Amino acid sequence: MTAPTTTAPILRVDGDRLWRSLMELAEIGAYDDERTGLRGVNRLALTDADAAGRRLVIGWMREAGLTVRVDRMGNIYGRREGADPDARPVLTGSHIDSVATAGAFDGCLGVLGGIEVVRTLNDLGITTRRPLEVAVFTEEEGTRFGTDMLGSAVAAGRITLGRAHALTDRDGVALGAELTRTGFDGTACERLDPPHAYVECHIEQGPVLARAGVDIGVVTGVQGISWQEITLHGRAAHAGTTPTELRADAGLAAARIVTHLRAMVESGAYGELRATVGHMAVHPGLTNIVPARAELTVDLRNPDDAAMARAEEDLLSHVRALEGEQPGLTASVRRMARTAAVPFDEEVQKAVARAADDHGLAHVSLLSGAGHDAQEIAALCPTAMVFVRGEYDGISHNPREYSNPEACAHGVDVLATTLLRLAEPVPGAATDAVPRS
Ligand code: GLV
Ligand code: MN
Ligand code: MN
Repeated sequence: MTAPTTTAPILRVDGDRLWRSLMELAEIGAYDDERTGLRGVNRLALTDADAAGRRLVIGWMREAGLTVRVDRMGNIYGRREGADPDARPVLTGSHIDSVATAGAFDGCLGVLGGIEVVRTLNDLGITTRRPLEVAVFTEEEGTRFGTDMLGSAVAAGRITLGRAHALTDRDGVALGAELTRTGFDGTACERLDPPHAYVECHIEQGPVLARAGVDIGVVTGVQGISWQEITLHGRAAHAGTTPTELRADAGLAAARIVTHLRAMVESGAYGELRATVGHMAVHPGLTNIVPARAELTVDLRNPDDAAMARAEEDLLSHVRALEGEQPGLTASVRRMARTAAVPFDEEVQKAVARAADDHGLAHVSLLSGAGHDAQEIAALCPTAMVFVRGEYDGISHNPREYSNPEACAHGVDVLATTLLRLAEPVPGAATDAVPRS
């Protein structure tokens, strides 16, 4: 793909309208977070809150003149036709499902930013040669059904529809059943025809842009992700009477995994490994009983696939060694999700960088620490991302997550200009820089 030239027009979106949409969507699934004293968002995939959010977004898509289709995975696409109906569309989007302790921006900026680009094109009467589509992907977070980037992975063909539908949440409810219950069991084919290109705007969720003092990140790719669920089976026993050497303490084994992971990271033997045990539960969970069972999840991230594979092997052999340390203790390991590092397309990265330059916005290139739908769609077409600066060191998956209105508008301006150039404005359309209202 050839990157569009610098002589192409720039497009400015209505930052106030974008902000109003972000704040309105954030009311759906809103809760009072006791720990921070802030208002957070809890909109796990395919819950009633997520369904309400989806309906709101579909309403906005229709108001913007988009033709909406929902596929069998619940992914939503809103399409703005181009002058050439046979041309492959330029795709943008992200997700609106959230973790249980979210802010207003993760994923939502990409979806509502895409809709804002369409509104702006409509306001200006701009026709593009290629169609433009805005996507909302199902269960990006993986918080509810245990596998992240699920909807986009199905759209890209990495995960089958059957496997995705069969995934269950912690209460045993299947994703397929929740699609039916919420009415998002669409009829469109879940396999996405390769778009011309995909560009996703997302908050950075880290400190790099703020520390560099720049507005925009040009994302070079996404690091590898490995999620595993480990269950340790010990033996319930009396806390006061059971001699230490007779215990099979599943809680102790779980704690040893947590500290081993930290030691692995600090050893430097696995490159830029990050390791997190985000869920841990011991059973029966009572003061005077040696834990009979412990469950924990391990989230590993690594930009280097070989180092990631070595870290996974180390973890596995540690778990096996734990089985020998206490009589009767056994362990089972289940892989929940695994993605390799994904580099983004250089020409689309250049297009994003050029758009930022043309808007007079400073930018840096950076690798994404978080997973994104873009890494799945990259298997189908040239792909890149625009990152937006966050406050408070870019904290995310936390109600404190915050990117200010200007930062959001800047990111979506860059998205808009990049999309317009990729979709090719039809000559004669009003395409000069438009002052923000
Ligand atoms: C997605 O938010 C991730 O876990 O990286
Ligand atoms: Mn996200
Ligand atoms: Mn997230």
